[in-house]
Amino acid sequence: MNSLISDAQKAGERVGLKSDTIVINGGKPLRGAIVVRGAKNLATKAMVAALLGETPSVLRDVPDISDVQVVRGLLEVYGVKVHDTASGEMTFDTAKVESAHFSDIDAHAGASRIPILFCGPLLHRLGEARIPDLGGCRIGDRPIDFHLDALRAFGAVVSKGVEGIHLTAPNGLKGANIELPYPSVGATEQVLLTAVRAEGTTELKNAAIEPEIMDLIAILQKMGAIISVEPNRVILIEGVDRLEGYTHRALFDRNEVASWAAAALVTGGDIFVQGARQVEIMTFLNVFRKVGGAFDVQETGIRFWHPGGNLKPVTIETDVHPGFMTDWQQPLIVALTQAHGTSIVHETVYENRFGFTEALNEMGANITVHKSGLPDHPRRVARRDFEQAAVITGPTKLHGANIYVPDLRGGFSHLIAALSAEGQSVISNVGIISRGYEHIIEKLAQLGADFVYEG
Ligand code: EPZ
Repeated sequence: MNSLISDAQKAGERVGLKSDTIVINGGKPLRGAIVVRGAKNLATKAMVAALLGETPSVLRDVPDISDVQVVRGLLEVYGVKVHDTASGEMTFDTAKVESAHFSDIDAHAGASRIPILFCGPLLHRLGEARIPDLGGCRIGDRPIDFHLDALRAFGAVVSKGVEGIHLTAPNGLKGANIELPYPSVGATEQVLLTAVRAEGTTELKNAAIEPEIMDLIAILQKMGAIISVEPNRVILIEGVDRLEGYTHRALFDRNEVASWAAAALVTGGDIFVQGARQVEIMTFLNVFRKVGGAFDVQETGIRFWHPGGNLKPVTIETDVHPGFMTDWQQPLIVALTQAHGTSIVHETVYENRFGFTEALNEMGANITVHKSGLPDHPRRVARRDFEQAAVITGPTKLHGANIYVPDLRGGFSHLIAALSAEGQSVISNVGIISRGYEHIIEKLAQLGADFVYEG
């Protein structure tokens, strides 16, 4: 490296850097401190909850990510006045919630799954809801069947047409007895956001109990809701006539914390994650320690580092809370490519979440994905009717590669693999990572990564 131009910059000039692409010069430990703010998977839901309040709501620590912008845009379509500050405080004034033209709603199609959660609040406020196409695919029953079945149980009438899904509630929404086929995070949120203002009591069985769900319940309680979390995944909600606005600081982003922890381990670095708390990520911390990572829980955050010595292999299953989250396996797998021995990761939440390992193999990893699982290693909890396992044999030296980022968590894993690899990597479609990782490029720079980025 000469005095001012890094190796990554030189490489960027050589390849003629295209937009949305990052060139990384690997092999440099990430060191320093970064701040993690509110969770993507809470803040976006809290924004939807604001629709239920008759008075303004204030949400603090809102991350500057594109998913938040999608939800903000949709709230504004319905007349909610949104105001934000540079410090991440957002105010939602719901005094004039009004019906929207489908073309305005549809402008937000395909960008996020959150719009499905507008159903209950819109039915309560406006008597009808129109939901645009989610995540780019045509809306079919399957991926949102738990949501629609729950809404029907409350008395909603659901019809599907060229203009997405249309819901009405001709006889109002009434409390219901609902048992989810699986403790789905989104479907649990759907029930909560609908039941709080439905007439009568709702009993939800087999509910998700992730910390983000508990934080949403805390918000709804501040608004005036009556919700009790009972043993064995049962939640009881007594409907009320009116909800007020809330003031709340969003729960920190557990997925981002786990991602930076893995980044410290993978690159042999040392990262202090300000804003991280212990209790909500205990399951992750156990695995991090078993693999050979070190951490220190401090008052304002958690420090993660590679203490030296060999990393050790592990066998884990992803699961619903309090299990090991599906969103944590991708960055961890990059660390497992450096463990001495064979690790196994069973993915039990999603049917197909190992696609990102192909790029890791191109970089030199030794990962075999078993699409029908491993008969010799049955899962501890068989919640779903599919089996999927990745077998990672290490340690393997990683080298730079050209990678197209497929999705949010997979993309972060590719980034940290490239940061630890020997040589240069050119990673494109990086923008997708900013859907869920706030100021990712600035944070990489703060941690001393050698890269050049074209936005
Ligand atoms: C949330 O997705 C998160 N997304 C996901 O994070 C996270 O991986 C997931 O919960 C599990 O913790 C948001 O909060 C925005 P689910 P969600 O309903 O609510 C099936 C990330 O990277 N299912 O708990 O959509 C579904 O296909 C994202 O931040 C149905 O079959 O997840 C999946 O296999 C990715 N029908 C399983 O349940 C339904 O109607 C769990 O999904 C709903 C879900």
